[in-house]
Amino acid sequence: MLKAIVAHDPNRVIGNNLDIPWHIREDFLHFKETTTGHTIVYGSKTFTSIGKALPNRKNIVLNFDKNFDAPGCEIVTSIEEIVERYKDSEDVVFICGGASIYKQFLPYCEELIISEVKKEYEGNVFFPEYKDDFVCYKEDEREEFIIKYYKKK
Ligand SMILES: NC(=O)c1ccc[n+]([C@@H]2O[C@H](COP(=O)([O-])OP(=O)(O)OC[C@H]3O[C@@H](n4cnc5c(N)ncnc54)[C@H](OP(=O)(O)O)[C@@H]3O)[C@@H](O)[C@H]2O)c1
Repeated sequence: MLKAIVAHDPNRVIGNNLDIPWHIREDFLHFKETTTGHTIVYGSKTFTSIGKALPNRKNIVLNFDKNFDAPGCEIVTSIEEIVERYKDSEDVVFICGGASIYKQFLPYCEELIISEVKKEYEGNVFFPEYKDDFVCYKEDEREEFIIKYYKKK
């Protein structure tokens, strides 16, 4: 099963150039806790901004070049390969960004785990519109953000 996990601000900002505009430790811990032990999928720009494979998870990086250098990661060159491999799997596979990856995978995601950051931030990278296709079924409020769990309608 594919699930997207993301933090966005009230305007759906997720990034500013290559960076995430906020540093919220509690959200980082939520991401770590949720994804540890699972497979995570992200784009090459997000990989470059993180700088290394994330520990205790199977890391898959999407890149059009099979020889892209990402130590500790599997390189996959098409989203179809991931969808075919995992869409009917009982294992949860987390789609972790960035914008281009979220946009391409959204039609194949059963669930979204969204950290809705309360404050507005400057940014030029956005999460796609999703509220027409997904419905929120659980909320977990924290100091600086609310974790909202969405299911496909
Ligand atoms: N707030 C959050 O939760 C969050 C999470 C993650 C990322 N972000 C932010 O998102 C931004 C990065 O997003 P982005 O859209 O610019 O980059 P990205 O999605 O991380 O990476 C884009 C790259 O992925 C590869 N790619 C994309 N589609 C592909 C496909 N169908 N098949 C194979 N490879 C494919 C391409 O690599 P090549 O061109 O190199 O082949 C493409 O240039 C940053 O600001 C980052 O901080 C935010």
